[in-house]
Amino acid sequence: MAVVNQKGGVGKTTVVLGLASAASAGGVATLVVDLDPQGNATTGLGVFDAGSGIEQLLTEDNAGGLAAVVRASAWSSEVGPPPLLVPSSPGLAVLEPQLASDPLGAQGRLAAALADGVGSDHQLVLIDCPPSLGLLTVNALFAADLILVVTEPGVWAVDGVARMLQTIERIRLRRSDDRPGLVGIAVNRLGRTRDGRYWNEQLEEAYPGRCLPPVRLRAAVAEAAAHSLPIHALGRRPGAVEAAAEFEVLLDRIPWSGSGSRTDSESPTPGSPA
Ligand SMILES: Nc1ncnc2c1ncn2[C@@H]1O[C@H](COP(=O)(O)OP(=O)(O)OP(=O)(O)O)[C@@H](O)[C@H]1O
Ligand SMILES: [Mg+2]
Repeated sequence: MAVVNQKGGVGKTTVVLGLASAASAGGVATLVVDLDPQGNATTGLGVFDAGSGIEQLLTEDNAGGLAAVVRASAWSSEVGPPPLLVPSSPGLAVLEPQLASDPLGAQGRLAAALADGVGSDHQLVLIDCPPSLGLLTVNALFAADLILVVTEPGVWAVDGVARMLQTIERIRLRRSDDRPGLVGIAVNRLGRTRDGRYWNEQLEEAYPGRCLPPVRLRAAVAEAAAHSLPIHALGRRPGAVEAAAEFEVLLDRIPWSGSGSRTDSESPTPGSPA
């Protein structure tokens, strides 16, 4: 599942890490693929000496494929089985324009690597995307079965989500397998202000039935990321239990094969707001 929004700072990485934490607590073997040159998911998982992981995977001569670049995260096993990671590194930003000029086509690199490499040790694969609709995000959209759009309840959110859904629809038309399916829109950093409520209502009106249970604004969420800890390990901090529960609810809504949730193949294709 790719976690996307071309808008920066809305909480894509936070949601990836929260879902990875919930998956870990639930005993789900999870692989996080960090497709963002900023590498926030990589450091959020406690890896600070990333090497060339995702760059190696996306370059043509990717010797060893996925297995060669997967490494353990630094989360402890106290919560549950720690996620595995394909780390990012800043060189990825330089690679993106190089890939774009590759005459062999560069949109399907990640899809090919994951198709060859995802095995039973990866029940759930979460792809953290950069804040753009560039080639890296496009690679994620071609590789993923499912998409989670993350947004904040703020001005431009409805327009930003519309643009993202249009892109997903264009990719779906290009793929032969009627994928990726939209899991929904995760509204992150919902505060208890009138403004937050207003923009959340605007999103629910624009995308009826597509908005997932929200993740609220809580200091514990930012704190977990800053300390490279799973939110489930912050037990006694105020708000940590509530935040962990919100990510569990979100995880439950992902129709990945082991979850027992319904698949969304019958749900309407993503499109413009109703
Ligand atoms: N629910 C939340 N409660 C409190 N802080 C949050 C929450 N969600 C995100 N944040 C904070 O907001 C900031 C941006 O979040 P994050 O890095 O996850 O966004 P992003 O969409 O991945 O950004 P980018 O587009 O740069 O990759 C971070 O400092 C994060 O800790
Ligand atoms: Mg991010």
